[in-house]
Amino acid sequence: MNIAFLSPTSFRLYDETAPKSACVLDQKALSGGVIGEDQSVYANGLLHVQLNQDNLVILYRGKEVFSAAPFSEEGEGIDHSLAEKEGHAHEQGRFEGGGMKIRSVRPVYGLGERSGPLEKRGYDYIDWNTDDPSAHVDTFKSLYQSIPFFILFDGDDSVGIFLDNTAKVHFDFNKSNPEEVRISYVSGKPDYYFFVGTMKDIIAEFTRLSGRNPLCPYWALGAQQSRWSYPSKEKVDEVVRRYRENDLPLSVVYLDIDYMDAYKDFTVDPKKFPNIREWLSEKREEGIVVVPIIDAGVKAEPGYFLYDEGIQDGYFSTLNGEVYHNEVWPGDSVFPAFLDERVQRWWAAHIASFLELGFGGIWNDMNEPASFRGPLPLDVEMGNGVKHDTAHNVYGHFMVKAGAMGFELAGKRLFQLTRAGYAGTCRYSGTWAGDNQSIWDHLRLSLPQLMNMSLSGQAYIGVDIGGFGGDTTPELAAKWAIASLLNPLYRNHSALGTKDQEPYTFTGVYLETYRKALKLRYRLRPAIYTEL
Ligand code: GLC
Repeated sequence: MNIAFLSPTSFRLYDETAPKSACVLDQKALSGGVIGEDQSVYANGLLHVQLNQDNLVILYRGKEVFSAAPFSEEGEGIDHSLAEKEGHAHEQGRFEGGGMKIRSVRPVYGLGERSGPLEKRGYDYIDWNTDDPSAHVDTFKSLYQSIPFFILFDGDDSVGIFLDNTAKVHFDFNKSNPEEVRISYVSGKPDYYFFVGTMKDIIAEFTRLSGRNPLCPYWALGAQQSRWSYPSKEKVDEVVRRYRENDLPLSVVYLDIDYMDAYKDFTVDPKKFPNIREWLSEKREEGIVVVPIIDAGVKAEPGYFLYDEGIQDGYFSTLNGEVYHNEVWPGDSVFPAFLDERVQRWWAAHIASFLELGFGGIWNDMNEPASFRGPLPLDVEMGNGVKHDTAHNVYGHFMVKAGAMGFELAGKRLFQLTRAGYAGTCRYSGTWAGDNQSIWDHLRLSLPQLMNMSLSGQAYIGVDIGGFGGDTTPELAAKWAIASLLNPLYRNHSALGTKDQEPYTFTGVYLETYRKALKLRYRLRPAIYTEL
Protein backbone atom coordinates (compact mmCIF):
# COMPACT_ATOMS: atom_id res chain seq x y z
CA MET A 1 0.00 0.00 0.00
CA ASN A 2 1.02 3.58 -0.65
CA ILE A 3 0.08 6.85 0.89
CA ALA A 4 0.19 10.17 -0.93
CA PHE A 5 -0.72 13.50 0.64
CA LEU A 6 -2.38 15.62 -2.03
CA SER A 7 -3.02 18.76 0.00
CA PRO A 8 -2.76 19.74 3.68
CA THR A 9 -6.21 18.16 4.19
CA SER A 10 -6.36 15.23 1.78
CA PHE A 11 -4.53 12.04 0.95
CA ARG A 12 -4.76 8.93 -1.16
CA LEU A 13 -4.31 5.43 0.17
CA TYR A 14 -3.83 2.88 -2.56
CA ASP A 15 -2.41 -0.30 -3.86
CA GLU A 16 0.04 0.59 -6.60
CA THR A 17 -1.40 -2.09 -8.87
CA ALA A 18 -4.79 -0.31 -8.83
CA PRO A 19 -5.86 0.50 -12.41
CA LYS A 20 -5.38 3.95 -13.90
CA SER A 21 -8.15 6.26 -12.74
CA ALA A 22 -10.94 7.13 -15.17
CA CYS A 23 -11.29 10.59 -13.67
CA VAL A 24 -8.36 11.69 -11.50
CA LEU A 25 -5.89 13.26 -13.87
CA ASP A 26 -3.59 15.19 -11.57
CA GLN A 27 -2.28 13.39 -8.52
CA LYS A 28 0.87 15.27 -7.75
CA ALA A 29 1.68 14.29 -4.19
CA LEU A 30 3.11 16.73 -1.66
CA SER A 31 4.65 13.86 0.26
CA GLY A 32 4.09 10.20 0.96
CA GLY A 33 5.49 6.92 -0.22
CA VAL A 34 5.28 3.22 0.32
CA ILE A 35 3.85 2.26 3.67
CA GLY A 36 6.67 0.57 5.57
CA GLU A 37 6.34 -2.20 8.12
CA ASP A 38 8.17 -0.21 10.73
CA GLN A 39 6.31 3.04 10.33
CA SER A 40 2.72 3.60 11.32
CA VAL A 41 2.21 7.35 11.48
CA TYR A 42 2.27 9.63 8.47
CA ALA A 43 1.85 13.36 8.82
CA ASN A 44 1.36 16.25 6.48
CA GLY A 45 -0.20 19.65 6.88
CA LEU A 46 -3.09 19.33 9.31
CA LEU A 47 -3.36 15.55 9.12
CA HIS A 48 -1.87 12.64 11.04
CA VAL A 49 -2.65 9.23 9.61
CA GLN A 50 -2.12 6.16 11.79
CA LEU A 51 -2.03 2.87 10.01
CA ASN A 52 -1.62 -0.77 10.86
CA GLN A 53 -2.99 -4.08 9.58
CA ASP A 54 -6.32 -3.65 11.34
CA ASN A 55 -6.87 0.05 11.61
CA LEU A 56 -6.78 3.37 9.86
CA VAL A 57 -7.14 6.43 12.06
CA ILE A 58 -7.11 10.05 10.86
CA LEU A 59 -6.31 12.89 13.22
CA TYR A 60 -7.15 16.39 12.03
CA ARG A 61 -5.58 19.26 13.99
CA GLY A 62 -4.94 16.71 16.72
CA LYS A 63 -8.52 15.40 16.91
CA GLU A 64 -9.59 11.93 15.79
CA VAL A 65 -12.05 12.36 12.93
CA PHE A 66 -11.99 8.93 11.35
CA SER A 67 -11.41 5.34 12.31
CA ALA A 68 -11.86 2.29 10.10
CA ALA A 69 -10.95 -1.36 9.78
CA PRO A 70 -10.73 -3.67 6.75
CA PHE A 71 -14.00 -5.32 5.76
CA SER A 72 -15.40 -7.86 3.33
CA GLU A 73 -18.97 -9.06 3.14
CA GLU A 74 -17.94 -12.67 2.93
CA GLY A 75 -20.15 -14.63 5.29
CA GLU A 76 -22.07 -11.50 6.29
CA GLY A 77 -25.80 -11.06 6.34
CA ILE A 78 -28.83 -13.30 6.40
CA ASP A 79 -29.86 -16.05 3.99
CA HIS A 80 -32.01 -14.42 1.29
CA SER A 81 -32.59 -17.48 -0.88
CA LEU A 82 -36.29 -17.89 -0.09
CA ALA A 83 -37.07 -14.23 -0.76
CA GLU A 84 -35.11 -14.50 -4.00
CA LYS A 85 -37.36 -17.32 -5.20
CA GLU A 86 -40.28 -14.91 -5.21
CA GLY A 87 -38.21 -12.44 -7.23
CA HIS A 88 -36.91 -10.17 -4.49
CA ALA A 89 -33.51 -9.31 -5.83
CA HIS A 90 -30.71 -8.87 -3.35
CA GLU A 91 -26.97 -8.70 -3.49
CA GLN A 92 -25.94 -8.27 0.09
CA GLY A 93 -23.16 -10.64 1.07
CA ARG A 94 -21.79 -10.80 -2.48
CA PHE A 95 -19.19 -8.07 -2.16
CA GLU A 96 -16.20 -10.10 -1.21
CA GLY A 97 -13.38 -8.23 -2.93
CA GLY A 98 -12.51 -6.00 0.00
CA GLY A 99 -13.59 -2.80 1.65
CA MET A 100 -13.66 -1.07 5.00
CA LYS A 101 -15.96 -0.52 7.92
CA ILE A 102 -15.93 2.93 9.43
CA ARG A 103 -16.95 3.79 12.97
CA SER A 104 -19.50 6.54 12.44
CA VAL A 105 -22.92 7.75 13.46
CA ARG A 106 -22.52 11.03 11.59
CA PRO A 107 -25.01 12.19 8.91
CA VAL A 108 -24.10 10.87 5.46
CA TYR A 109 -24.44 12.81 2.18
CA GLY A 110 -23.38 12.16 -1.37
CA LEU A 111 -23.21 9.19 -3.78
CA GLY A 112 -24.57 11.41 -6.52
CA GLU A 113 -27.84 10.63 -8.23
CA ARG A 114 -29.92 8.56 -5.79
CA SER A 115 -33.54 8.30 -4.85
CA GLY A 116 -34.38 8.56 -1.17
CA PRO A 117 -33.74 11.20 1.42
CA LEU A 118 -30.96 13.77 1.40
CA GLU A 119 -29.37 12.29 4.52
CA LYS A 120 -28.63 8.68 3.88
CA ARG A 121 -28.17 6.87 7.18
CA GLY A 122 -30.24 3.71 7.40
CA TYR A 123 -30.07 2.97 3.67
CA ASP A 124 -27.76 0.91 1.51
CA TYR A 125 -26.82 1.59 -2.10
CA ILE A 126 -25.06 -0.17 -4.94
CA ASP A 127 -22.86 1.41 -7.57
CA TRP A 128 -24.03 -0.21 -10.78
CA ASN A 129 -25.40 2.11 -13.46
CA THR A 130 -28.97 0.99 -13.99
CA ASP A 131 -31.75 1.93 -16.41
CA ASP A 132 -34.88 1.00 -14.47
CA PRO A 133 -37.90 2.79 -15.97
CA SER A 134 -40.25 1.81 -13.15
CA ALA A 135 -41.09 4.62 -10.72
CA HIS A 136 -37.94 5.46 -8.73
CA VAL A 137 -38.67 5.03 -5.02
CA ASP A 138 -36.68 5.73 -1.86
CA THR A 139 -35.45 2.15 -1.55
CA PHE A 140 -33.86 1.90 -5.04
CA LYS A 141 -30.26 0.85 -4.57
CA SER A 142 -28.99 2.01 -7.96
CA LEU A 143 -29.85 4.56 -10.62
CA TYR A 144 -28.12 5.58 -13.85
CA GLN A 145 -24.93 6.96 -12.31
CA SER A 146 -22.32 5.76 -9.82
CA ILE A 147 -20.30 8.29 -7.89
CA PRO A 148 -18.44 6.45 -5.11
CA PHE A 149 -17.94 9.58 -3.02
CA PHE A 150 -19.71 10.53 0.20
CA ILE A 151 -19.31 12.81 3.19
CA LEU A 152 -19.57 12.00 6.90
CA PHE A 153 -20.79 15.33 8.17
CA ASP A 154 -19.40 16.88 11.33
CA GLY A 155 -19.13 20.63 10.73
CA ASP A 156 -15.52 21.74 10.24
CA ASP A 157 -14.30 18.20 10.99
CA SER A 158 -16.26 16.42 8.24
CA VAL A 159 -14.61 13.63 6.26
CA GLY A 160 -15.11 12.87 2.57
CA ILE A 161 -14.31 9.43 1.17
CA PHE A 162 -13.86 8.61 -2.49
CA LEU A 163 -13.36 4.97 -3.41
CA ASP A 164 -12.03 5.09 -6.97
CA ASN A 165 -13.29 1.66 -8.00
CA THR A 166 -15.42 1.20 -11.10
CA ALA A 167 -16.60 -2.32 -10.23
CA LYS A 168 -19.83 -2.98 -8.35
CA VAL A 169 -19.60 -1.41 -4.90
CA HIS A 170 -21.93 -1.70 -1.92
CA PHE A 171 -22.39 1.18 0.55
CA ASP A 172 -24.15 0.36 3.79
CA PHE A 173 -24.80 3.55 5.71
CA ASN A 174 -25.49 2.50 9.29
CA LYS A 175 -28.07 -0.03 8.10
CA SER A 176 -26.62 -3.41 9.12
CA ASN A 177 -24.90 -1.83 12.09
CA PRO A 178 -26.16 1.56 13.34
CA GLU A 179 -22.63 2.49 14.39
CA GLU A 180 -20.92 1.59 11.15
CA VAL A 181 -20.63 2.72 7.58
CA ARG A 182 -19.51 -0.15 5.39
CA ILE A 183 -17.98 -0.05 1.95
CA SER A 184 -17.37 -3.28 0.09
CA TYR A 185 -16.54 -4.04 -3.51
CA VAL A 186 -16.83 -7.07 -5.73
CA SER A 187 -13.36 -6.74 -7.20
CA GLY A 188 -10.48 -4.35 -7.58
CA LYS A 189 -7.65 -3.00 -5.50
CA PRO A 190 -7.90 -0.54 -2.64
CA ASP A 191 -7.79 3.02 -3.97
CA TYR A 192 -9.21 5.54 -1.53
CA TYR A 193 -9.07 9.29 -1.23
CA PHE A 194 -9.79 11.02 2.08
CA PHE A 195 -10.67 14.68 2.47
CA VAL A 196 -11.08 16.48 5.79
CA GLY A 197 -12.57 19.86 6.65
CA THR A 198 -15.84 21.65 5.93
CA MET A 199 -18.21 20.23 3.32
CA LYS A 200 -17.22 23.05 1.02
CA ASP A 201 -13.49 22.29 1.40
CA ILE A 202 -14.11 18.60 0.86
CA ILE A 203 -16.12 19.07 -2.31
CA ALA A 204 -13.63 21.63 -3.61
CA GLU A 205 -10.74 19.22 -3.16
CA PHE A 206 -12.67 16.20 -4.48
CA THR A 207 -13.67 18.07 -7.63
CA ARG A 208 -10.20 19.55 -8.06
CA LEU A 209 -9.02 15.96 -8.40
CA SER A 210 -11.91 14.24 -10.14
CA GLY A 211 -13.18 17.06 -12.36
CA ARG A 212 -15.70 19.87 -12.52
CA ASN A 213 -18.40 20.94 -14.94
CA PRO A 214 -16.95 23.58 -17.22
CA LEU A 215 -19.13 26.67 -17.36
CA CYS A 216 -22.11 25.94 -19.63
CA PRO A 217 -23.09 28.27 -22.46
CA TYR A 218 -25.43 31.05 -21.34
CA TRP A 219 -28.29 29.74 -23.49
CA ALA A 220 -28.13 26.45 -21.53
CA LEU A 221 -29.59 28.29 -18.54
CA GLY A 222 -32.69 29.28 -20.48
CA ALA A 223 -35.92 27.30 -20.79
CA GLN A 224 -35.56 24.02 -22.65
CA GLN A 225 -38.32 21.94 -24.23
CA SER A 226 -38.17 18.30 -25.18
CA ARG A 227 -40.51 15.46 -26.10
CA TRP A 228 -40.16 11.84 -27.16
CA SER A 229 -40.41 12.70 -30.01
CA TYR A 230 -41.20 15.77 -32.06
CA PRO A 231 -41.79 13.88 -35.31
CA SER A 232 -40.92 16.58 -37.86
CA LYS A 233 -39.44 19.99 -38.33
CA GLU A 234 -42.97 21.36 -38.78
CA LYS A 235 -43.82 20.14 -35.30
CA VAL A 236 -40.74 21.79 -33.79
CA ASP A 237 -41.59 25.01 -35.64
CA GLU A 238 -45.07 24.82 -34.12
CA VAL A 239 -43.65 24.33 -30.60
CA VAL A 240 -41.44 27.42 -31.00
CA ARG A 241 -44.30 29.46 -32.47
CA ARG A 242 -46.75 28.51 -29.71
CA TYR A 243 -44.17 29.36 -27.04
CA ARG A 244 -43.77 32.78 -28.66
CA GLU A 245 -47.51 33.35 -29.18
CA ASN A 246 -48.12 32.63 -25.50
CA ASP A 247 -45.38 34.97 -24.34
CA LEU A 248 -43.30 32.08 -22.97
CA PRO A 249 -39.52 32.44 -23.28
CA LEU A 250 -37.64 29.48 -24.79
CA SER A 251 -33.97 28.86 -25.63
CA VAL A 252 -33.49 25.16 -26.47
CA VAL A 253 -35.42 22.37 -28.21
CA TYR A 254 -34.32 18.73 -28.14
CA LEU A 255 -34.74 16.15 -30.87
CA ASP A 256 -35.43 12.71 -29.44
CA ILE A 257 -34.76 9.43 -31.29
CA ASP A 258 -37.33 9.83 -34.08
CA TYR A 259 -35.32 12.51 -35.90
CA MET A 260 -32.93 9.75 -36.93
CA ASP A 261 -33.23 7.48 -39.91
CA ALA A 262 -34.21 4.10 -38.39
CA TYR A 263 -32.63 5.06 -35.03
CA LYS A 264 -29.17 5.18 -36.57
CA ASP A 265 -26.75 7.49 -34.76
CA PHE A 266 -25.43 10.43 -36.80
CA THR A 267 -28.24 10.24 -39.37
CA VAL A 268 -31.17 12.60 -39.86
CA ASP A 269 -34.36 11.33 -41.50
CA PRO A 270 -34.52 13.43 -44.69
CA LYS A 271 -38.30 13.13 -44.92
CA LYS A 272 -39.00 14.43 -41.42
CA PHE A 273 -36.15 16.95 -41.26
CA PRO A 274 -35.20 17.91 -44.85
CA ASN A 275 -32.48 20.52 -45.43
CA ILE A 276 -31.32 20.16 -41.86
CA ARG A 277 -28.49 22.67 -42.22
CA GLU A 278 -30.74 25.51 -43.38
CA TRP A 279 -33.42 24.64 -40.87
CA LEU A 280 -30.93 24.65 -37.98
CA SER A 281 -29.56 28.00 -39.06
CA GLU A 282 -33.11 29.35 -39.28
CA LYS A 283 -33.72 28.18 -35.69
CA ARG A 284 -30.50 29.81 -34.54
CA GLU A 285 -31.66 33.08 -36.04
CA GLU A 286 -34.89 32.71 -34.09
CA GLY A 287 -32.82 32.30 -30.90
CA ILE A 288 -33.40 28.55 -30.57
CA VAL A 289 -30.59 26.05 -30.06
CA VAL A 290 -31.37 22.50 -31.23
CA VAL A 291 -29.85 19.51 -29.38
CA PRO A 292 -30.20 15.96 -30.79
CA ILE A 293 -30.06 12.71 -28.86
CA ILE A 294 -27.29 10.17 -29.56
CA ASP A 295 -27.56 6.63 -28.20
CA ALA A 296 -24.81 4.23 -27.19
CA GLY A 297 -26.22 1.28 -29.18
CA VAL A 298 -25.27 1.34 -32.87
CA LYS A 299 -27.56 -0.36 -35.41
CA ALA A 300 -25.96 -3.56 -36.66
CA GLU A 301 -26.68 -3.16 -40.36
CA PRO A 302 -24.14 -3.78 -43.11
CA GLY A 303 -24.11 -0.73 -45.37
CA TYR A 304 -24.66 1.74 -42.50
CA PHE A 305 -21.45 3.80 -42.43
CA LEU A 306 -21.00 3.78 -38.66
CA TYR A 307 -21.45 0.03 -38.40
CA ASP A 308 -19.19 -0.67 -41.39
CA GLU A 309 -16.40 1.57 -40.08
CA GLY A 310 -16.63 0.10 -36.59
CA ILE A 311 -16.55 -3.46 -37.88
CA GLN A 312 -13.66 -2.75 -40.21
CA ASP A 313 -11.54 -1.17 -37.48
CA GLY A 314 -12.56 -3.42 -34.59
CA TYR A 315 -14.23 -0.61 -32.65
CA PHE A 316 -17.13 -2.53 -31.10
CA SER A 317 -17.29 -4.40 -27.79
CA THR A 318 -16.60 -8.11 -28.09
CA LEU A 319 -17.40 -11.36 -26.35
CA ASN A 320 -14.91 -14.20 -26.82
CA GLY A 321 -13.36 -12.33 -29.72
CA GLU A 322 -16.67 -11.84 -31.61
CA VAL A 323 -18.54 -8.53 -31.85
CA TYR A 324 -21.19 -8.62 -29.13
CA HIS A 325 -24.83 -7.97 -30.14
CA ASN A 326 -27.85 -7.01 -28.06
CA GLU A 327 -30.96 -4.97 -28.80
CA VAL A 328 -31.68 -1.26 -28.37
CA TRP A 329 -33.96 1.19 -30.27
CA PRO A 330 -32.65 0.29 -33.75
CA GLY A 331 -33.15 -3.45 -33.13
CA ASP A 332 -30.04 -5.58 -33.40
CA SER A 333 -27.25 -3.37 -32.03
CA VAL A 334 -23.54 -3.29 -31.20
CA PHE A 335 -21.71 -1.19 -28.62
CA PRO A 336 -18.67 1.00 -29.30
CA ALA A 337 -15.72 -0.06 -27.12
CA PHE A 338 -15.56 3.39 -25.54
CA LEU A 339 -12.71 2.56 -23.15
CA ASP A 340 -10.37 2.39 -26.15
CA GLU A 341 -8.84 5.74 -27.09
CA ARG A 342 -8.95 4.91 -30.79
CA VAL A 343 -12.68 4.42 -30.48
CA GLN A 344 -12.99 7.72 -28.62
CA ARG A 345 -11.21 9.53 -31.47
CA TRP A 346 -13.41 7.85 -34.07
CA TRP A 347 -16.57 8.78 -32.16
CA ALA A 348 -15.27 12.31 -31.62
CA ALA A 349 -14.85 12.79 -35.36
CA HIS A 350 -18.48 11.78 -35.94
CA ILE A 351 -19.69 14.05 -33.15
CA ALA A 352 -17.70 16.90 -34.72
CA SER A 353 -19.18 16.47 -38.19
CA PHE A 354 -22.67 16.13 -36.74
CA LEU A 355 -22.21 19.34 -34.76
CA GLU A 356 -21.04 21.06 -37.91
CA LEU A 357 -24.57 20.68 -39.31
CA GLY A 358 -25.52 23.36 -36.79
CA PHE A 359 -26.57 21.47 -33.66
CA GLY A 360 -25.75 23.26 -30.41
CA GLY A 361 -25.09 20.27 -28.15
CA ILE A 362 -25.40 16.51 -27.74
CA TRP A 363 -27.79 14.58 -25.50
CA ASN A 364 -26.18 11.20 -24.70
CA ASP A 365 -28.53 8.39 -23.73
CA MET A 366 -28.83 4.64 -23.08
CA ASN A 367 -25.17 4.65 -22.08
CA GLU A 368 -25.31 2.50 -18.92
CA PRO A 369 -25.34 0.75 -21.44
CA ALA A 370 -29.06 -0.07 -21.61
CA SER A 371 -30.09 -3.17 -23.54
CA PHE A 372 -33.41 -4.85 -24.25
CA ARG A 373 -32.31 -8.51 -24.51
CA GLY A 374 -31.06 -8.85 -20.96
CA PRO A 375 -27.95 -7.27 -19.50
CA LEU A 376 -24.63 -7.48 -21.30
CA PRO A 377 -22.57 -10.40 -19.96
CA LEU A 378 -19.90 -9.36 -17.47
CA ASP A 379 -17.06 -10.56 -19.67
CA VAL A 380 -17.91 -8.44 -22.73
CA GLU A 381 -14.76 -6.45 -23.56
CA MET A 382 -15.38 -2.72 -23.84
CA GLY A 383 -11.99 -1.41 -24.96
CA ASN A 384 -8.38 -1.77 -23.83
CA GLY A 385 -9.20 -5.32 -22.76
CA VAL A 386 -11.38 -4.04 -19.90
CA LYS A 387 -14.32 -6.30 -19.21
CA HIS A 388 -17.88 -5.21 -18.58
CA ASP A 389 -17.65 -5.97 -14.83
CA THR A 390 -15.26 -3.05 -14.37
CA ALA A 391 -16.09 -1.08 -17.53
CA HIS A 392 -19.82 -0.85 -16.80
CA ASN A 393 -19.83 2.14 -14.46
CA VAL A 394 -17.52 4.16 -16.72
CA TYR A 395 -18.98 3.20 -20.11
CA GLY A 396 -21.09 6.37 -20.29
CA HIS A 397 -18.19 8.37 -18.84
CA PHE A 398 -15.97 7.46 -21.78
CA MET A 399 -18.80 7.97 -24.28
CA VAL A 400 -19.16 11.59 -23.19
CA LYS A 401 -15.40 12.01 -22.95
CA ALA A 402 -15.32 11.08 -26.63
CA GLY A 403 -18.19 13.49 -27.19
CA ALA A 404 -16.27 16.30 -25.52
CA MET A 405 -13.30 15.57 -27.79
CA GLY A 406 -15.72 16.01 -30.69
CA PHE A 407 -16.68 19.50 -29.49
CA GLU A 408 -13.02 20.37 -29.34
CA LEU A 409 -12.45 19.12 -32.87
CA ALA A 410 -15.40 21.17 -34.09
CA GLY A 411 -14.17 24.22 -32.17
CA LYS A 412 -17.53 24.46 -30.39
CA ARG A 413 -18.43 25.41 -26.84
CA LEU A 414 -19.08 22.18 -24.91
CA PHE A 415 -22.67 21.29 -24.15
CA GLN A 416 -23.66 17.71 -23.43
CA LEU A 417 -26.16 15.89 -21.29
CA THR A 418 -25.65 12.32 -20.20
CA ARG A 419 -27.74 9.76 -18.39
CA ALA A 420 -24.97 7.41 -17.20
CA GLY A 421 -21.86 8.59 -15.42
CA TYR A 422 -19.13 8.09 -12.85
CA ALA A 423 -17.14 10.46 -10.64
CA GLY A 424 -15.75 13.23 -12.81
CA THR A 425 -18.11 12.68 -15.74
CA CYS A 426 -19.15 16.28 -15.14
CA ARG A 427 -15.86 17.32 -16.74
CA TYR A 428 -17.47 16.39 -20.05
CA SER A 429 -21.19 16.59 -19.54
CA GLY A 430 -24.15 17.80 -17.52
CA THR A 431 -26.69 15.29 -16.26
CA TRP A 432 -30.43 14.95 -16.28
CA ALA A 433 -31.64 12.41 -13.76
CA GLY A 434 -33.31 10.05 -16.25
CA ASP A 435 -36.82 8.74 -16.42
CA ASN A 436 -38.80 10.23 -13.56
CA GLN A 437 -42.58 10.17 -13.63
CA SER A 438 -45.36 12.73 -13.57
CA ILE A 439 -46.20 12.16 -9.91
CA TRP A 440 -46.00 14.52 -6.95
CA ASP A 441 -43.59 12.23 -5.20
CA HIS A 442 -41.08 12.70 -8.00
CA LEU A 443 -41.30 16.45 -7.72
CA ARG A 444 -40.47 16.01 -4.03
CA LEU A 445 -37.74 13.45 -4.82
CA SER A 446 -36.02 15.80 -7.27
CA LEU A 447 -34.93 18.18 -4.50
CA PRO A 448 -32.81 15.85 -2.32
CA GLN A 449 -31.67 14.02 -5.45
CA LEU A 450 -30.26 17.14 -7.10
CA MET A 451 -28.76 18.36 -3.82
CA ASN A 452 -26.89 15.10 -3.36
CA MET A 453 -25.64 15.28 -6.94
CA SER A 454 -24.41 18.76 -6.22
CA LEU A 455 -22.78 17.59 -2.97
CA SER A 456 -21.03 14.97 -5.10
CA GLY A 457 -19.42 17.54 -7.36
CA GLN A 458 -21.95 17.88 -10.17
CA ALA A 459 -22.99 21.41 -11.02
CA TYR A 460 -24.99 21.32 -14.27
CA ILE A 461 -27.92 19.10 -13.35
CA GLY A 462 -31.69 18.89 -13.55
CA VAL A 463 -34.69 16.60 -13.87
CA ASP A 464 -37.46 16.40 -16.45
CA ILE A 465 -39.84 19.19 -15.44
CA GLY A 466 -43.46 18.01 -15.42
CA GLY A 467 -42.26 14.42 -15.17
CA PHE A 468 -41.25 12.06 -17.98
CA GLY A 469 -43.40 8.91 -17.63
CA GLY A 470 -47.18 9.12 -17.21
CA ASP A 471 -49.54 12.04 -17.74
CA THR A 472 -48.85 15.23 -15.91
CA THR A 473 -51.54 17.60 -14.67
CA PRO A 474 -51.44 21.37 -15.26
CA GLU A 475 -51.06 21.97 -11.53
CA LEU A 476 -48.21 19.48 -11.13
CA ALA A 477 -46.35 20.85 -14.16
CA ALA A 478 -46.74 24.47 -13.07
CA LYS A 479 -45.57 23.75 -9.53
CA TRP A 480 -42.68 21.70 -10.92
CA ALA A 481 -41.67 24.70 -13.02
CA ILE A 482 -41.56 26.78 -9.83
CA ALA A 483 -39.74 24.19 -7.70
CA SER A 484 -37.07 23.83 -10.41
CA LEU A 485 -36.32 27.52 -10.80
CA LEU A 486 -32.80 27.16 -9.42
CA ASN A 487 -31.96 23.90 -11.19
CA PRO A 488 -29.16 24.73 -13.64
CA LEU A 489 -30.75 22.48 -16.28
CA TYR A 490 -34.33 23.68 -16.76
CA ARG A 491 -35.93 21.26 -19.20
CA ASN A 492 -39.49 20.05 -19.70
CA HIS A 493 -39.49 16.54 -21.23
CA SER A 494 -42.06 13.81 -21.59
CA ALA A 495 -42.28 10.19 -22.73
CA LEU A 496 -43.82 8.69 -25.83
CA GLY A 497 -47.57 8.27 -25.47
CA THR A 498 -48.03 10.72 -22.59
CA LYS A 499 -50.22 13.81 -22.69
CA ASP A 500 -48.57 16.93 -24.11
CA GLN A 501 -47.06 19.05 -21.34
CA GLU A 502 -45.59 22.06 -23.10
CA PRO A 503 -46.66 25.04 -20.98
CA TYR A 504 -48.86 26.48 -23.76
CA THR A 505 -51.10 23.39 -23.54
CA PHE A 506 -52.29 24.70 -20.16
CA THR A 507 -54.82 27.46 -19.60
CA GLY A 508 -55.88 29.93 -16.95
CA VAL A 509 -53.96 30.06 -13.70
CA TYR A 510 -51.63 27.20 -14.67
CA LEU A 511 -50.51 28.80 -17.91
CA GLU A 512 -50.12 32.08 -16.05
CA THR A 513 -48.10 30.41 -13.27
CA TYR A 514 -45.82 28.57 -15.72
CA ARG A 515 -45.27 31.84 -17.64
CA LYS A 516 -44.36 33.67 -14.43
CA ALA A 517 -41.94 30.88 -13.53
CA LEU A 518 -40.25 31.08 -16.94
CA LYS A 519 -39.96 34.86 -16.75
CA LEU A 520 -38.54 34.71 -13.25
CA ARG A 521 -36.08 32.08 -14.44
CA TYR A 522 -34.80 34.45 -17.14
CA ARG A 523 -34.43 37.19 -14.52
CA LEU A 524 -32.46 34.83 -12.25
CA ARG A 525 -30.29 33.64 -15.10
CA PRO A 526 -27.39 36.07 -14.59
CA ALA A 527 -27.23 35.12 -10.91
CA ILE A 528 -27.25 31.39 -11.69
CA TYR A 529 -24.55 31.90 -14.32
CA THR A 530 -22.42 33.78 -11.81
CA GLU A 531 -22.92 31.05 -9.19
CA LEU A 532 -21.86 28.36 -11.67
C1 GLC B 1 -34.81 7.04 -22.54
C2 GLC B 1 -34.46 8.42 -22.01
C3 GLC B 1 -35.57 9.39 -22.34
C4 GLC B 1 -35.80 9.39 -23.84
C5 GLC B 1 -36.10 7.97 -24.34
C6 GLC B 1 -36.19 7.89 -25.87
O1 GLC B 1 -35.91 6.54 -21.86
O2 GLC B 1 -34.21 8.40 -20.63
O3 GLC B 1 -35.27 10.67 -21.88
O4 GLC B 1 -36.87 10.22 -24.18
O5 GLC B 1 -35.07 7.10 -23.93
O6 GLC B 1 -35.02 8.31 -26.45
